[in-house]
Amino acid sequence: MVKVVKHPLIQHKLSLLRSRETGTKEFRETLQEIAGLMAYEITRDLPVREVRIETPLRSCKADQLAKEVVLVPVLRAGLGMVEGISNLIPTAKVGHMGLYRDHQTLEPMQYYAKFPDNLSDAVVLLLDPMLATGGSASAAVSNLKSEGASHIKLICIVGAPEGVARIEQDHPDVDIYLAALDEGLNESGYIVPGLGDAGDRLFGTR
Ligand code: PRP
Ligand code: URA
Repeated sequence: MVKVVKHPLIQHKLSLLRSRETGTKEFRETLQEIAGLMAYEITRDLPVREVRIETPLRSCKADQLAKEVVLVPVLRAGLGMVEGISNLIPTAKVGHMGLYRDHQTLEPMQYYAKFPDNLSDAVVLLLDPMLATGGSASAAVSNLKSEGASHIKLICIVGAPEGVARIEQDHPDVDIYLAALDEGLNESGYIVPGLGDAGDRLFGTR
């Protein structure tokens, strides 16, 4: 399942991310804001359990999240989405997945992985602003599954049809959420129109 979250606030903020005029500070703040807005939509179906609460006046039933939520940003650019979501879900634990794309082959190269325990019981939100060929996201999902994760939602900001097709083929059980599904990839594997190199724009490295 691929869902493009077309909320007007998300689309407005995405236009700012896409603009070449947007500098590092605004890019960083806007990416976190979009991630939070997307998470609000995407977590609608999280399971809840009923608990009993004592208000200052009396006892009542109330719903609380039934499952642990684990955020897994794909380094580097996924880091730019963590705070926006953990502001909404402060109990969420955070794992890290270090991957970069080889510039020649576009193949993902893994250099780091660290996850909390009990991934099998958790809802895992895998975070990466860019879904280009899908190689990085597919490798990240495989890694999470090998650690026991079974309920994974992939949250990206901009996706290419090639990346969506790759995830649907490799991991049909993983739902994909995007703020935009773009036209495709250029000869260097960048999403067009896209927003450029998300990691570089986030961290000011180019
Ligand atoms: C970017 C992006 C994704 C990947 C997407 O990371 O954040 O992880 O490329 O491309 P794919 O779908 O073709 O795999 P990059 O490799 O530039 O790493 P960096 O953020 O550390 O610079
Ligand atoms: N990675 C990025 O940061 N941007 C793209 O367009 C493709 C991969």
